Amino acid sequence: MEKKPFDEDNYTHNIHKDNERSLDRRGFMKTMVGAAGLFAVSTLPWGALAAKELLGLKNKSYVKKEIADVKSLMVGQSVEFSYPSDHESALLIRLSDNEYKAYQNACTHLKCPVFWSSEDEHMVCPCHHGVFDPKTGIPTAGPPRRPLPEVVVTIEGNTIYAIGVKRYET
Ligand code: FES
Repeated sequence: MEKKPFDEDNYTHNIHKDNERSLDRRGFMKTMVGAAGLFAVSTLPWGALAAKELLGLKNKSYVKKEIADVKSLMVGQSVEFSYPSDHESALLIRLSDNEYKAYQNACTHLKCPVFWSSEDEHMVCPCHHGVFDPKTGIPTAGPPRRPLPEVVVTIEGNTIYAIGVKRYET
């Protein structure tokens, strides 16, 4: 009977033991270079978006959104709204006859909703007793270290509108 040089079903006949280590190393290096390239390409848009966001925040355009009627908000009262998107909650406070302040009210510590305490005249985060100054949004007590992002408001006629967000100002 004729002897076959190797079994037809065995596809390992072309692997030479001498080259096995170098092939493995080369293959590994190719895989690593490919993975690094893929990672760089896949993260490029996100890095560019983040840079654009950080550099262009002050020029970012916002929609004008009606918050409340002046007559419906007495001095010392607050009203919740969302701005600029429906899932970004915010708080408008009437501090005096002509002074209104608004902030996105997700606490800058761990995102609990901050509320207005009219008795204490400051904004309070119930989760870890964070306290914020209503005139500036700057934290005055508790763990928060960054101010609440201020929502810029304007009054036209009897209506209060949100027109922008000062995200990174202190
Ligand atoms: S989440 Fe507001 S103080 Fe911790």
